[in-house]
Amino acid sequence: MRALVLQTEELDPAASDWLAERADLRRCSPDEPGFADLLAEADALVVRTYTIVNEAMLAKAPKLRAVARAGVGLDNIDLRACERRGIRVLNTPDANTQAVVELVVSFVLDALRPRLFLDKALPLKEWKRVRDDLIAPRQLGDLTVGVLGLGRVGTRVARVFEAFGCRVLYNDLLELHRDNLRAKAVDLDTLLRSSDVLTVHVDERASNRDLIDAGALARMKPDALLINASRGFVVNPGALASWLGSNPGAQAILDVHEPEPFTSDYPLLGLPNAHLAPHIGAATAQAKRNMSWVVKDLWKVLCGEKPEHAAV
Ligand code: 3PG
Repeated sequence: MRALVLQTEELDPAASDWLAERADLRRCSPDEPGFADLLAEADALVVRTYTIVNEAMLAKAPKLRAVARAGVGLDNIDLRACERRGIRVLNTPDANTQAVVELVVSFVLDALRPRLFLDKALPLKEWKRVRDDLIAPRQLGDLTVGVLGLGRVGTRVARVFEAFGCRVLYNDLLELHRDNLRAKAVDLDTLLRSSDVLTVHVDERASNRDLIDAGALARMKPDALLINASRGFVVNPGALASWLGSNPGAQAILDVHEPEPFTSDYPLLGLPNAHLAPHIGAATAQAKRNMSWVVKDLWKVLCGEKPEHAAV
């Protein structure tokens, strides 16, 4: 009998077609009718960001052998609960690193380098006025970029900003050595106080909740740019809203939020210096393909073989 695999979120069609040739693949999200019946029979789940795989769900999935996360973050999956039940958890650690790095660099350039494109001819006086209006007060290469979390994304972000000529500092829980990186390790306090641009790339461990809280923000430069492309819960939104309100020269560009989607009472909505993206770090076709091929590892587990990337 073919294994029953439940796909709860969108994947690249080539990857889901590949899996459908091997397993009985059903597409159904937890809020759709029929999900509970499928879950009760499922051998495996394929999920992305918005399927919460917790104890309550696992209790209704007695046959489950594997959960495949197309992507990196595992904060939506209760790893310990899976481990207790002998369920393997797979992910795709490097699938979207490049996509996230590219987004972070675009965010920084968006914030620092005003630009517009003309759609009509302008008389010389107006042309000159537009050119003057577009003068950037700060040049990226003169700035200090602080990287909080020097994992896969943080390391590549640091390399890119070094190439721009920035002074790059980082802080990480671990003492790390990265080839071809001149960035200097500093303590968190120095990182917060020294960074013109602070970009957050810590992982989803629970102890990172509210890492950027009112106390951390109070130590930042009043005209700092804060980028968060890690997880929403790392930055406290209420504290950030109040810091942005009292520091109009500061800016925050956030790709991740808690909750997602955020609701109309999100404290950062409507602030002129808060820019909120809808979690698009991994939104390139290539990254989506890379993440979706988690199905190969899933198939290995279902065949009793060793997967390439198992978190549990
Ligand atoms: C990840 O953890 O890999 C990213 O947050 C992916 O997000 P997505 O599945 O929503 O594209």
